[in-house]
Amino acid sequence: MRKGFLAVGAAGLLTLGSLTACGNESGGDQAGSDKTPKIGVILPDSKSSVRWESADRKFLKEAFDAAGVLSDIQNAQGDKNAFQTIADQMITGGVTVLMIVNLDSGTGKAVLDKAKSQGVATIDYDRLTLGGSAEYYVSFDNVAVGKLQGEGLVKCLTEAGVQKPAIAYLNGSPTDNNATLFKEGYDSVLKPKFDAGEYTQVADDSVPDWDNAQAATIFEQQLTKASGKIDGVLSANDGLGNAAISVLKKNNLNGKVPVTGQDADPQALQNILAGDQCMTVYKAVKKEADAAAELAIALAKGERKTTGQTVKDPEGNRDVPAVLLAPAAIYKDNVKDVIADGYVTKEQICTGDYAKLCTDAGIS
Ligand code: BGC
Repeated sequence: MRKGFLAVGAAGLLTLGSLTACGNESGGDQAGSDKTPKIGVILPDSKSSVRWESADRKFLKEAFDAAGVLSDIQNAQGDKNAFQTIADQMITGGVTVLMIVNLDSGTGKAVLDKAKSQGVATIDYDRLTLGGSAEYYVSFDNVAVGKLQGEGLVKCLTEAGVQKPAIAYLNGSPTDNNATLFKEGYDSVLKPKFDAGEYTQVADDSVPDWDNAQAATIFEQQLTKASGKIDGVLSANDGLGNAAISVLKKNNLNGKVPVTGQDADPQALQNILAGDQCMTVYKAVKKEADAAAELAIALAKGERKTTGQTVKDPEGNRDVPAVLLAPAAIYKDNVKDVIADGYVTKEQICTGDYAKLCTDAGIS
């Protein structure tokens, strides 16, 4: 049924339990070895994606609680000053490990460097802080995420038989390194088509801070500029995709113009069932949270695990030990897999008019 759905797809990808313990390192400079383990987590906001509050917070808390480790999980609500204040309070409050999802690399780096100077070990969660000093980076293969989006858009346009489609890009925040990686992924699929004249690119805009409201305005402008002739929207996540769909709806174009996404938001899964969204990318956040928690708990106990993989931080010119998980593409026919995986519930998705669409899509 779900065979292979979440299979780790590339060499070097790791799942929980495969991290190798190296035990206590000599030297004794590890944070936390003589303190009570306590892990601080700073989430970025609750608006750019529902995942942070509905999935990451929940799965991280469950992992820490299951290990009997104290934790303090806070959300900076998109405010960089608040981000730094929370970090300061956590450090003063005695966290032994700090895990962050940065709002940009500049403030992220300041927080990581300060933590380090106070003997607090750090982890970059989901977003790599360029030029930063985190001991680990735990995320998904974000270029693969973008590749799935590019391939998804091509699949939906091909199935709809659109000739020489005009494509608009709604990229993620320019301050998020992930947005750069997603774009690298979808460009690898779409640029050759633009270059060959098979597709045309009519817009390529980034959405500051992944702000959904701004995304709607930007998409409205893209549509106007293209005189209403946009055949496909490469949107970098579900929030941005939903903003584009709201504009398409106003113009009676929803369902005719495929839109991509990411995060398997309940809203996006409903958009997919309704035919307004082409696809989303499911990232099993529980695996990400479990892997990060496992590393954090080890660090808090003064241990260091090897991850078997590194990513290059081009700014810091450093190889950061990393765990990168495999994403999965979701279309109408496998929305049910996201439910079966426990990421969302049938009750969340199959409400009202969606009940019939759920039955049609094999969601029982
Ligand atoms: C995350 C996405 C999320 C976006 C907006 C990215 O860094 O990887 O899952 O949708 O930020 O919060």
